Amino acid sequence: MNDVRQIHLYFYCRNIKTHEKRMKNDLFILPAYRIVNRLAIDQVAERARLISGLRAQHATIEPKYFYDELGCALYAAICQLDEYYPTRTERAIFQDSRGEIAEAVGLGGTFVDLGAGDCCKAMSWLPHLQPSRYLAVDIAGPTMETSLANMAPEFPEIEMVGLVTDFSVQLELPADLVNDRTTLFYPGSSIGNFTPENAVKFLRQMRRYASNGLLIGVDAKKEKARLDAAYADALGVTAAFNLNALRHINREIGSDFVESRWKHVGQYNELLGRIEMHLESIAAQQVNIDGVARKFAAGERIHSENSYKYSEAEFMAMLHEAGFANVHVWTNSQRAFWVFWAT
Ligand code: AVJ
Repeated sequence: MNDVRQIHLYFYCRNIKTHEKRMKNDLFILPAYRIVNRLAIDQVAERARLISGLRAQHATIEPKYFYDELGCALYAAICQLDEYYPTRTERAIFQDSRGEIAEAVGLGGTFVDLGAGDCCKAMSWLPHLQPSRYLAVDIAGPTMETSLANMAPEFPEIEMVGLVTDFSVQLELPADLVNDRTTLFYPGSSIGNFTPENAVKFLRQMRRYASNGLLIGVDAKKEKARLDAAYADALGVTAAFNLNALRHINREIGSDFVESRWKHVGQYNELLGRIEMHLESIAAQQVNIDGVARKFAAGERIHSENSYKYSEAEFMAMLHEAGFANVHVWTNSQRAFWVFWAT
């Protein structure tokens, strides 16, 4: 442990008030964060959904299956790619408009980070917003826990909580973890994974909790060539990210997908305004899905992700439809990405 950390830890221990103290072998353990796990609740239903998606005539898997530990690391690598502009564009908007956004959001309260992942995006906001509680929410428990463990000593005055849950179907935040000054943070255009109709439903669910407001990042519609490159990069990192879902699924349900028999497809569907990712069967093959052989023809695809892109007006209308009355937007000079503050 280096000196800076020791000093942080020292102040953390001095300042501890609301945190739980545990006795173990005559030592006080002062957890800098805690984890609330709500994942196990409907695992049987989840498994059934996954299997029926794979058996369907047009096979689908949900994007949440990208995010095992390797998948989280691959997504972090995607965010470093030259071709993948959203993360860096959003970061630049946050940096350029930091003061204005911070003023709109205000200080204190609970800061809820939906799809926190490595918590990096939220971390840049905590010093400016100084919430009393940081609630990281993600389906990928181990990645989030590692991030919280690393960042907690840096923010001794903030109560740090990690909620492991799948909010893709229904957003449920424990009542004791939200209050009348709750900010929801949903960056990175993760909202793009929902169809527009489900996105409005999800915005409505978020509004229930967002007593202070919602800070959300949304990717803009743009030229097909630029979008195609962002989702089919030259190094093949996005391909690995897509194919890794098959490994994750093999572990989840004991299927026998072989990655080398599948090929990554990621391209913009201009008509529907969305990136579509698919896994395409290279040759005729069969896969054992929960004891039953599923045949795939050569060229047959498993649809693994949609990533919708919105014009400013389109997303503004969706926020209004979901019940947000006041909306402010920040963008960059190329209008490549939107950051909305909705109350
Ligand atoms: C995490 C959903 C925002 O849609 O751009 C990146 C996921 N998929 N490359 C996106 C993703 C392929 C990403 N989101």
